[in-house]
Amino acid sequence: MSDEFSPPTSEWYYPANGVVENAHVKDYKAIYKESMDDLEAFWAKRAETLDWYEPWDTVLDDSNAPFFKWFSGGKTNVTLNALDRHVKTWRRNKIAMIWEGEPGDKVSLSYWRLWQEVNKFGNVLRSMGVKKGDTVTIYMGRIPELAIAMLACAKIGAVHSVVYGGFSDQALADRIEDAQSRVLVTADGAWLRGNIVHLKDVVDEAVHRSPVVETIIVVRRTGHDIRMEQGRDYWYHDLMNLPIASPICETEVMDAEDPLFILYTSGTTGKPKGVLHTQGGYQVYISTTLEWVFDIKDEDRWWCAADPGWITGHSYIVYAPLILGATGFMYEGAPNFPYPNRWWKMIEEYGITILYTAPTAIRGLMRFGDAWPKRHNLSSLRLLGTVGEPINPEAWRWYHTVIGKEQCPIMDTWWQTETGGFMITPVPSFGLKPGSATRPFPGIDADIVDEDGNTVPPGEDGFLVIKRPWPGMLRTVYGDPERYKEQYWSKYQKQGWYLAGDSARFDDDNYIWVIGRIDDVLKVSGYRLGTAEVESGLVSHPAVAESAVIGIPDEVKGNVIYAYCILVAGAEPSEDLKDELKNHVRHEVGPIAVPAKIEFVETLPKTRSGKIMRRVLKARAQGLPEGDLSTLER
Ligand code: WTA
Repeated sequence: MSDEFSPPTSEWYYPANGVVENAHVKDYKAIYKESMDDLEAFWAKRAETLDWYEPWDTVLDDSNAPFFKWFSGGKTNVTLNALDRHVKTWRRNKIAMIWEGEPGDKVSLSYWRLWQEVNKFGNVLRSMGVKKGDTVTIYMGRIPELAIAMLACAKIGAVHSVVYGGFSDQALADRIEDAQSRVLVTADGAWLRGNIVHLKDVVDEAVHRSPVVETIIVVRRTGHDIRMEQGRDYWYHDLMNLPIASPICETEVMDAEDPLFILYTSGTTGKPKGVLHTQGGYQVYISTTLEWVFDIKDEDRWWCAADPGWITGHSYIVYAPLILGATGFMYEGAPNFPYPNRWWKMIEEYGITILYTAPTAIRGLMRFGDAWPKRHNLSSLRLLGTVGEPINPEAWRWYHTVIGKEQCPIMDTWWQTETGGFMITPVPSFGLKPGSATRPFPGIDADIVDEDGNTVPPGEDGFLVIKRPWPGMLRTVYGDPERYKEQYWSKYQKQGWYLAGDSARFDDDNYIWVIGRIDDVLKVSGYRLGTAEVESGLVSHPAVAESAVIGIPDEVKGNVIYAYCILVAGAEPSEDLKDELKNHVRHEVGPIAVPAKIEFVETLPKTRSGKIMRRVLKARAQGLPEGDLSTLER
């Protein structure tokens, strides 16, 4: 609410006329209070807005904490709400998804058409032997078939594991192996900056390393020559033309707590974590958050510019917009291709009303200057959003002034792969401060605490915690329940709080400012990456004995990677070796993990117990004081 917090202590922005009057949430304070007074009643009321095959017995089952269950006994399927119910109403004729390829090709799918495509592909998967509970790995670019494949899995009760199309064959192989997927869906290639990304080649290499895959379904996107292995590889379009691909596909009736997907994300070890989300609570959480934060209406054209290969795309490109019956836009390629006006041109052409993206993308486009967006009429926009890392006030102001013409509030949403949906975020009626994600969403009991669990006073840093469960939360780490307990629930085990892994502070108005990670997780161009993943990529090269990786602030990317390597005896340091190591990381982990700088060193600063002091490396790299060195081994 623009008027409920104490008078401005820093820079404030209030919503323009018309934003508040029509918003879904007019009285945040009352709704928040209601949610905290009776959490279960609050979420039950939200769940009632969706269709269920059978109602739940218990809203929240905390008998086996931290393995919480939501809407136990309820029977549902996310596609019942995202597709099946819409084709029975006027929405069957509404556009569900508008898509533009990087070369300029266009597709739009009505709810009816999308529903049919999903049904057909669901039948194809079933005919390939995919059953309820099986995992299917999906590895492709930003094309409609990616959404169709995810929805088809959900419809037949299979668990999808989408691997971001920028990952290397080794990273893909590890994820296939962990999920034990026998079926993989991919494309021949993807368009990026006018070039082909050779997805199928990466898949061939990954499957060679991880032979558990028996069937590969390939969407023809780029049309270049690829190798198809008989008996293993099938063209998507061939399968979709078979009689088996009937447009009627029975939706699997799922328990609310049955798994919907696994999404691998980076943690503090080299091994990626498979974050597991389920069918019931996730739907309730993501549809409520999208509706209230971005105030989605039937007239809107919503553009979440993330990649479906990370959680933002899962929740807010694919599932939540469809559950709400909204019209979403998806674009395949690079924001500056062929010119830096590509995004602004599409906003004008399609009449996009809400744009949701990452600070790194905003900074990247800001660099090209105001002239590019100014060539276009962006007046269709009414709301903007950001996610992925703290947004620097300069980028915020540019987004607000040059893109939003000072008419569009910016929803700075803090959340995580683990949380499923927005957690700390304004709603459109809030007064905003550039760089603050503001307040907890209704139903979210967030706090910032010290080591002992005491709430820290305004201005002091502490650990961001969530004190009560929420329906969109992860349920476990796939195949590793111990890691789930240890990572998120052990620090405040006594209190039963979720540790987000971020540090944050309150200001005098009780607004939350997220500062950054407390662990060795980096954000590079908005992507989450563990230092350990890059380090293990480096030491897998025969010349490297040991390595340490740090993030150094960068104007556009948020962070870039600096790597320090100790070479094995006999290996000669050279510029060529640096290039070779960069290529090696590209191949082992993926292009996003390639260090901006590699330095060969004789020793690394370590504590006496042998832990690398990345803080010291960071300070040295930036020419800052090295701080407390009492634990440094000399
Ligand atoms: C960071 C992305 C500040 C944070 C949805 C979190 C943010 C991590 C914000 C999760 C924001 C995300 N302000 N920091 N608005 N949004 N983060 O799993 O460090 O890729 O813990 O999920 O991104 O990254 P993930």
